[in-house]
Amino acid sequence: MPFDFIKTHLQARQQDALLRKRHVVQQATARTITVSNKAYLNFASNDYLGFGDEAVNLNDSHALGSHSSALVTGYQAQQKALEQYLCEQFGYGAGMLFNSGFSANSSVIKALFQDKAAAQNSAIFQDKLNHASLIDGAMHSNAALVRFNHNDMNHLRSRLEKSKAQNKLIISEGVFSMDGDTAPLKELLALAKQHNALLMIDDAHGFGALGKTGLGSCEAFITQTLPDILVITFGKAVASSGACVLGSKQFIDYMLQFNRDYTYSTAMSPLMASHTLARIKSIKTADDKRDKLNANIALFKQLAKSHNIAVMKSNTAIQPIVLGCAEQTLQAADKLKQQGIWLTAIRPPTVAHNTSRLRITLTAAHTEQDITYLVKHLVGAIA
Ligand SMILES: Cc1ncc(COP(=O)(O)O)c(C=O)c1O
Repeated sequence: MPFDFIKTHLQARQQDALLRKRHVVQQATARTITVSNKAYLNFASNDYLGFGDEAVNLNDSHALGSHSSALVTGYQAQQKALEQYLCEQFGYGAGMLFNSGFSANSSVIKALFQDKAAAQNSAIFQDKLNHASLIDGAMHSNAALVRFNHNDMNHLRSRLEKSKAQNKLIISEGVFSMDGDTAPLKELLALAKQHNALLMIDDAHGFGALGKTGLGSCEAFITQTLPDILVITFGKAVASSGACVLGSKQFIDYMLQFNRDYTYSTAMSPLMASHTLARIKSIKTADDKRDKLNANIALFKQLAKSHNIAVMKSNTAIQPIVLGCAEQTLQAADKLKQQGIWLTAIRPPTVAHNTSRLRITLTAAHTEQDITYLVKHLVGAIA
């Protein structure tokens, strides 16, 4: 029968405890979530600072839609202001907004290697734990994809040394989305320099949460040199949506010519751009929220340790508990739901086979009692 594979794949996912489901969320803050009329403590939000709970200027009269691609009439003053603010804060020559981080990542890589002849002589070096959007971009480009072991700079070095490609692009993440650990940015910058490579960093989970003024991993871990290409997203700590790609003026000019997502998609809504900018300005001075988030992370790690719960090498808001088996991880998440705790069972193919995990995300909105309650029930759920 035509399209028989649809049923087969659905059944296989069900059998392997890998079936994905959506839940209608009736209400959510960085601390609580209501699903099917039941309220839970929310440990699955990426709203790390709890900004989603705070209204932005509701009198904003900017248009909801941008009405066309940025290359037609969609590039409006609000988007320009957001790009400019980010360029000034970081010290980049130019920026470019996208409606999602996924689109930014995948399309930038595809566009960079759009020239087939140049791409044949190009290689993209990616950390094995890089986000699907980065991997997809490379797989759909004409350049060779070379993956190095997670955060293993010796492995990356040897791969760079062996490569005969003229154009080398190294890609890593500021904070890894499923492990919560951070990339060695200084070493990555040094290796990129040594091998005449460009460095691209996706700081989706660092922006807002890390750094003295919330500029993310670059502010937290490096001093002068910036990655050649930086992608920040607005759907996590900014509690908005969309993304900005930052780079040199020449790089962004090139993207303007060749980035197909940017060219053939309606530009970010002006309302979204102006609200996002207002939120980012608040984030700059949100030291109290960053301090609270860090205190919550420290408390969680300390309590987990005292209850013999194995945590990973993460000092960020993302605190995964790896259980291995997909079915067991689903069961643990279900047990926690019965106790009023909402978190996600992350399973393959999002993570490697046998590394299914409970992905706990902490936010500045959680109280000490919330975290104590979580750890108490984790003990029973993963036993
Ligand atoms: C590391 C990383 N990069 C990019 C994205 C995609 O961003 P967005 O959700 O804005 O599409 C995500 C997340 O969801 C992510 O975790």
